Amino acid sequence: MLRRRWMRRARGFLLCGCIAGAVAAAPLGLPPLPAAGVPSAREIALGQQLFFDRRLSFNGTLSCAMCHIPEQGFAQNELATPVGFEGRVVERNAPTLLNVAYRKTLFSDGRESSLEMQVWSPLLASNEMANPSIGFVLARLDAVYRERFRQAYGEGPTVVNFGRALAAYERTLVAGDAPFDRWYFGGDQAALSRGARQGFETFTRSQCTACHRIANDHAHFTDENFHDTGVAYGTANAAPVPSRVELVPGVFANPQVALGTSPRVDLGRYRITLDPADRWRFRTPSLRNVALTAPYMHDGRFATLDAVIAHYNAGGAPHDGQDPRIRPLGLSADDARNLVAFLESLTGGNVAQLAAAARTVSIGDVGTMDANGATVPRAN
Ligand code: HEC
Ligand code: HEC
Repeated sequence: MLRRRWMRRARGFLLCGCIAGAVAAAPLGLPPLPAAGVPSAREIALGQQLFFDRRLSFNGTLSCAMCHIPEQGFAQNELATPVGFEGRVVERNAPTLLNVAYRKTLFSDGRESSLEMQVWSPLLASNEMANPSIGFVLARLDAVYRERFRQAYGEGPTVVNFGRALAAYERTLVAGDAPFDRWYFGGDQAALSRGARQGFETFTRSQCTACHRIANDHAHFTDENFHDTGVAYGTANAAPVPSRVELVPGVFANPQVALGTSPRVDLGRYRITLDPADRWRFRTPSLRNVALTAPYMHDGRFATLDAVIAHYNAGGAPHDGQDPRIRPLGLSADDARNLVAFLESLTGGNVAQLAAAARTVSIGDVGTMDANGATVPRAN
């Protein structure tokens, strides 16, 4: 009986082409996923349930899905930077989780490298889910999810398998087969409008591909590297960062960063490396599904793609250290419009399916699981 239900669920994934398809063969435009051990359908289903469970936050108000909203490109369109626990402001824009499985580093400063470990950042951040400790989270999970963890992993929740479950689910959020892919990789001339094709020409001519890369047989539209594109410089400038100070003999720090005196000062990659050359450098985001994930940049400062293009067209905010490829582009209004049409052609053909599939679980409470711990779907 249990097995039948499980099979049915696995078949459902196959039919919608999102879960099993993502693991086995990637959609057009994306390479096969790095072989990180193919998760079982049970792990994925558990991770999906956890993703929507508000009890993962200290006061039971906030789930992962409330900042990474399925219908908003698994990002958040409403706020430049989301609010977390008790309305505390989170410093950066909530990025999409679509195609996050491909990222070489996580967060816009690249401070984390594995999805399995990343989950603890929001869970423990005092302005996000605000849990006091790992043990606290595990005890709560044990009270609610013990059986489901046992079924998936042969043991109750642990620091390791909890990360594995959420990561297993996140790895299924693979969105490709965009109109651009069908045209560029699939050779379908009708897949892309004339404007979008001209926009692609402008995109390559303007050297956007130097950072938002396109390979021969796939495109991530990122080089997975960190660059100063003039976005953060203005804000850092508004609250000047003093030169290094000596905290105790021999230990140097930048007081704005170390003491967090101003949340508006974001030096990006520098926070991780403390290398002055990394000031204002942020990870190049993928441009896949970018039309769905406004607002833009690490702090969500631009509400529209038009505003992003205007930033590039103006040459960023020229200063020492800005990447030399960010320079005035002299784009016409037509060029800018076409460029946006091109960016809009990067929305995956399966995104709506992924969002709908995500909503097959309910916002967690015990009553929505049957005796075997299986999810009982509910419209919400
Ligand atoms: C309060 C809002 C909020 C909540 C809740 C939240 N996130 Fe995030 N998430 C963010 C923000 C903001 C960032 C970007 C932070 C940065 O770049 O420094 C982020 C980044 C990420 C990233 C990195 C993506 C990338 O491209 O680098 C992953 C993965 C992620 N979150 C997964 C989760 C999971 C899983 C949960 C639930 C356990 C969760 N988030 C809960 C706001 C949130
Ligand atoms: C030197 C490398 C580089 C070049 C060249 C470059 N970008 Fe970017 N792009 C980035 C980085 C880094 C970010 C993120 C900046 C931030 O978060 O502050 C970004 C962000 C973006 C975003 C916002 C994505 C999001 O999800 O927030 C868009 C859209 C974009 N770039 C389009 C373009 C276009 C169009 C061009 C060419 C005109 C271009 N980029 C040229 C590195 C580059």
